[in-house]
Amino acid sequence: MIVTDKIAVVRSMRSSYPNADWGLVPTMGYLHEGHLSLVRRACAENDRILVSIYLNPTQFAPGEDLEAYPRDIDRDLGLLDELGVDLVFMPDDLTMYPEGFQTTVAVGNVTRILEGSSRPSHFQGVTTIVTKLFNIAQPTRAYFGQKDAQQAIIIRQLISDLNINLDLVICPIVREPDGLAMSSRNVRLSSEQRAAAIVLFKALRSASTALEGGEPDGAVLRRIMADMIQKEPLARIDYVSVADPVTLEEILTVEGQVLLSMAVFFGDVRLIDNVLIN
Ligand code: PAJ
Repeated sequence: MIVTDKIAVVRSMRSSYPNADWGLVPTMGYLHEGHLSLVRRACAENDRILVSIYLNPTQFAPGEDLEAYPRDIDRDLGLLDELGVDLVFMPDDLTMYPEGFQTTVAVGNVTRILEGSSRPSHFQGVTTIVTKLFNIAQPTRAYFGQKDAQQAIIIRQLISDLNINLDLVICPIVREPDGLAMSSRNVRLSSEQRAAAIVLFKALRSASTALEGGEPDGAVLRRIMADMIQKEPLARIDYVSVADPVTLEEILTVEGQVLLSMAVFFGDVRLIDNVLIN
């Protein structure tokens, strides 16, 4: 496995195997089974695998958890080596944002709601860095998780709008045995908060059950989720949503596919979760 912080090394590896199918898995490190499921899928579907590890500062607002974001590079590299990854790209900030950098990639409406209304500059940081990674790596396929449902929708829009030549693969959410979606941020929860955090999955499950039982009213479904979360004293709701999975607009009456999603604070740790229902 080659580990590099240089764009030129990635480019030269890419051009050494021009006919290979390349899979790209972008990450911010502190890898868990959720990330590794993307890497495994990429390994199964491509000849060569590139994983990027870059804690992208432009997707964190001042006061968010950039400084507190957990890191363990040695462990990450060990895990990726075991899975048979060919190349790890770990650039520093000056490589990705050199002095004089002044371009951003901004997707429209789908970035302004839900996560975007709580974190206004977040998605512009994500779409800019992801476009840069696509241009550097020029992968055949790129792998993202359904865990960040809105991010996946935005990247689909970005690829389509800018005619980016790759296949986007969205992989299912990997959960802990009790239902909590795996996240690098879970380690920042106290043991009481960790126990309380299963309320996200429980709330999604009760709304799904109600929906499958014939409840089509978006407002009722949002209330089912909100009521359940509010009963948990350590949880503070940021949003709960019952939305169209393409436009992310809130649904009045569910007819087709629907995305149930939420963001909930436990102290200063903000967790997100979702379920896509057909
Ligand atoms: P990060 O949070 O490290 O996540 C990297 C990828 O792993 C994302 O596509 C995310 O959706 C996926 N992932 C995280 N937890 C998952 C889980 N429990 N199950 C399945 N997939 C999961 O998302 C980012 O980094 C950044 O925004 C990035 C795209 C790298 C741009 O900086």
